[in-house]
Amino acid sequence: MPQNRTEILAATEAGIARAALLLREGKLVSFPTETVYGLGADARQGEAVAAIYEAKGRPSFNPLIAHVHSAEAAQRYVQWNDVAEQLAQAFWPGPMTLVLPLREGHGISPLVTAGLQTLGVRVPAHPAGQALLQALDGPVAAPSANPSGRISPTTAAHVKAGLDGRIAVILDDGACGVGLESTIIGLAGPEPMLLRPGGLAAEEVETVLGRKLAMRDVHDPLTAPGQLLSHYAPGAPVRLNAESAAAGELYLGFGPGACDLNLSERGDLAEAAANLFGHLHQLDALGRPIAVAPVPQHGLGEAINDRLCRAAAPRE
Ligand code: TXA
Ligand code: MG
Repeated sequence: MPQNRTEILAATEAGIARAALLLREGKLVSFPTETVYGLGADARQGEAVAAIYEAKGRPSFNPLIAHVHSAEAAQRYVQWNDVAEQLAQAFWPGPMTLVLPLREGHGISPLVTAGLQTLGVRVPAHPAGQALLQALDGPVAAPSANPSGRISPTTAAHVKAGLDGRIAVILDDGACGVGLESTIIGLAGPEPMLLRPGGLAAEEVETVLGRKLAMRDVHDPLTAPGQLLSHYAPGAPVRLNAESAAAGELYLGFGPGACDLNLSERGDLAEAAANLFGHLHQLDALGRPIAVAPVPQHGLGEAINDRLCRAAAPRE
């Protein structure tokens, strides 16, 4: 939903406290990191995360990075290991994101991970971003704060130019130093892998690890999420635009009416987005084919339908 006015807050103690309060209330807050300005929402609140996609006008759901204030905080959400510890000691806070398996009881909305069992975590070094994360003491999901398909913002003015009226607040603390997104290292597989080159040189990571990073295989959906047609696919077949369930099918509803699970009984697209991956997982666990009600193709519906099409696409 477009909001009416975007507040610009200076990164003072009061400004940071207010930004943290708004995050807690489920609002969108753009905040500086040393790489680019992020568009943040509380990663535990599905509807707040859905609002990120709405504000950016992103036509599909890609996994988002969860920002936390420290390596200790990261360990509340992911399963830690020795390589993670080594890299965190060397490069956090800083322009590095680690992808690790989610841990039990993590509380992160499945919309953040786009239904994956892994989570990208990052501890930014920017003082204002750090202070905000400490004030919230919770995970903040944040892609770059630009409309989809546009250039990443490195000043509050860039953010305002792209998203004015669509987000609650911009925490303004000048220009970002690095200006390039974080380097993403995958640590959920058998060997450390470079998932995205970025603000930290891969060679520096390799020096600390004492070995080469594996390279991303663009044909592997686990290392390049969101880039293949069949991305998050339940085990059972998925049938779209179904007005009702056929015999033996489970029905994933949208809007009022009988169904096994409802994306949003009141037909609200942000609520549906927040429920999408969790509901698919729940139905998938029952091991029967899934029929999905039509979801309107406007606003967040475009991204919801993009993901549903991937879930229904023929499997490789
Ligand atoms: O510097 C940055 O990283 C900025 C600032 C705001 O922190 N954020 C950023 O987020 O660039 P975004 O959403 O534009 O990029 C997130 C990238 C995506 O390309 C996504 O594929 C990858 O991170 N990613 C996130 N979670 C992942 C996961 N569980 N597995 C693999 N890749 C993941
Ligand atoms: Mg981006």
